Amino acid sequence: MQAGLCIAMGATALGAQSSGYGLPKTDARMNRFVDSVLARLTLEEKLGQLTQYRGPWGLTGPQTREAGAADIKAGRVGSFLGVRGAAATRELQTIAVTQSRTRIPVLFADDIVHGWRTIFPVPLAEAASFNPEIAERTARVAAVEGAAAGIHWTFAPMVDITREPRWGRIVEGAGEDPFLGSIIAAAKVRGFQGRSLRDSLSLMATAKHFVGYGAAEGGRDYNTTDIPLRTLHEMYLPPFEAAVKAGARSIMAAFNEIDGVPMHANKRLIDGVLRDRWRWDGILVSDYTGVMELLQHGLSADSAAVGRLALDAGVDVDMVSNIFYKDVAREVRAGRLPVAVVDSAVRRVLRTKYELGLFTDPYKGSSTAREQALTLTAESRSLARTAAQQSIVLLRNERNTLPLTAAGKTIAVIGALASDARSSLGGWAAAGRAEDAVTVLAGIRNAVGSNGRVLYAAGAPVEERDTTGFAEAVRVAREADVVVLVVGEHQDMSAEARNRSSLDLPGVQQQLVERIYAVGKPTVAVLMNGRPLSVPWMASNVPAILETWYLGVEHGNAVADVLFGSVNPSGKLPVTFPRTVGQIPIYYNHKNTGRPSDAKERYTSQYIDVPFTPLYPFGHGLSYTTFSYSAPILSRAKAGTHESVDVSVTVTNSGSRTGEEVVQLYVRDDAGSVTRPVKELKGFTRVSLAPGEQRTVTFRLTPELLAFYDLQYREVVEPGTFSIMVGGSSEQLQRTTLELTGRVHVLDARPIR
Ligand code: BGC
Repeated sequence: MQAGLCIAMGATALGAQSSGYGLPKTDARMNRFVDSVLARLTLEEKLGQLTQYRGPWGLTGPQTREAGAADIKAGRVGSFLGVRGAAATRELQTIAVTQSRTRIPVLFADDIVHGWRTIFPVPLAEAASFNPEIAERTARVAAVEGAAAGIHWTFAPMVDITREPRWGRIVEGAGEDPFLGSIIAAAKVRGFQGRSLRDSLSLMATAKHFVGYGAAEGGRDYNTTDIPLRTLHEMYLPPFEAAVKAGARSIMAAFNEIDGVPMHANKRLIDGVLRDRWRWDGILVSDYTGVMELLQHGLSADSAAVGRLALDAGVDVDMVSNIFYKDVAREVRAGRLPVAVVDSAVRRVLRTKYELGLFTDPYKGSSTAREQALTLTAESRSLARTAAQQSIVLLRNERNTLPLTAAGKTIAVIGALASDARSSLGGWAAAGRAEDAVTVLAGIRNAVGSNGRVLYAAGAPVEERDTTGFAEAVRVAREADVVVLVVGEHQDMSAEARNRSSLDLPGVQQQLVERIYAVGKPTVAVLMNGRPLSVPWMASNVPAILETWYLGVEHGNAVADVLFGSVNPSGKLPVTFPRTVGQIPIYYNHKNTGRPSDAKERYTSQYIDVPFTPLYPFGHGLSYTTFSYSAPILSRAKAGTHESVDVSVTVTNSGSRTGEEVVQLYVRDDAGSVTRPVKELKGFTRVSLAPGEQRTVTFRLTPELLAFYDLQYREVVEPGTFSIMVGGSSEQLQRTTLELTGRVHVLDARPIR
């Protein structure tokens, strides 16, 4: 038996960076240069710097005008969304730096979310790895490939916390937890931006969508939100703060409103929180037509007025609305908007171009040869496979149904998704190509080779109600020793504007599952989906269930690695799976209420027709081995409210295979001046253990991790007891109690607003 000690990075990563907000040191030379450029610009040219046009690949919302050479020459373009490839970007940049009057280089932006050409797991999947190192490495590769294709600026990471599985965009973020979301946000920013923005293979990262977008009422994209101030600061803002601390130089405004003020005009939050409270000085970009949408929100019927409101609130770049360019000059000339507001925004844009090194080399070394050499390399694919393996969550495994043996066996693969390469890639596939993706069927065939036989039947389409393929699927299942049923949602059922009112398997897939199960062969379900699904029948009947999300180019190989046991699954759910859509919102870090749910007590918070518990809780994920946990040990049972305490737990691999476990630390403030959640994740780390091996993991609980906003809305740690919980899921925890003594420790006396 081996014992070891490791300080868990999950618990310390945020605290470690608290001294700085990633701001570049004031650079007098840069400021002088920026001022000298600014002084040469006409008002129209200034507004041009604040204008983002769409290129050929930039249509990600309603139809807007595409810009080209003439617009660049006229100084109308500060940046582009969706111009791709070293050749195209070089050509347009040459026009900017040789034929426009200002000679200012343009910025090329794109949505490089989970890979450029080498597509990695979708963000929700990658969050299931609980592995910030993987998240950082995949972002780094995405940045290298994207930068090689001439891009400077990615609209990622999406750091929206959400408790809304109906919302299609849940797939783009890290799930429901602000602590996990913050760790992943920071990792993605580090990965995209690399050591320095000036580096020719770095991308400027954008934390989006600021803020509260994930709280869309009814899960309907773009919808209004209703977020209490504390919830805003405890749930939705932390990943943005983490991204800012990690150095994110760009943030995107969200489509939604908060408390009656659309985010594109929300001075209180943009100026108040980002610029003032966090002292962040990066560029705030609107979302696609976000400035124009202030008209529909009903702030004004006049586009010049909404342009002024957005600029005045702190929006620096107008993505495709073209209102800043067309209408704002009039507002300035009429004295309704001080030119100083425009100048501040232009300074931020010029500073970004300077930081990216574009005034020194507007091409950043880009060439088609470099692009080819760096794209979809063998190392990138190998990283994609590792990331995919770690993102798979084993939800159920009765009687050790998994892993499977291939030798001499006939395996029936059933389900339309099993051969759907495009769905393997997931939503924001950027320059990804379906032909690069390994489907589940192909992955199984690769793994089985000539050792066994693989049969395939689609069974049923994903969405349509067509059962004509059932008979063939049943025939194939009868012929097999084991059935792998691949069901879920195709990728176009997730992401922007892809909301659902049901979380059940779409189409006739549930009937297909029941028909195939009735054949009586050992059956494994492989889920592909971008949101939690309510699959209660499957969860009590099908003996083994793998959640595989959309895993990118190596989807099928990674699934086969886990199915046949060359890889032991280790992912954990970053989001709660409900039994039924009617339970939403359901999340692990809820309040206790005055009548906590208790199935045996009538007058408690529950339903009469469904249990109050989730189908699968946050943090859940099985392994082919088992892990046992000691009770948590505190470095001291009593401490002052201003002090840190270490929490140690010994984890043992009590099974018979080597495996990786995500060790999780949760905390509850037992009694506070305002009510606190029943548990909150405050640390996690991955450990790899051989059979019988044990390891002691130590988390550091700092005052920052125990703080909350009190009655005066100050950030404080209050004296009293705290439940300290450790385990392998939010519902399987060992506990102890910490007592904090002394006075209320005020971390930040400025009330949140
Ligand atoms: C999305 C953003 C995206 C933008 C540009 C919008 O519709 O909300 O997340 O970055 O389009 O493609």
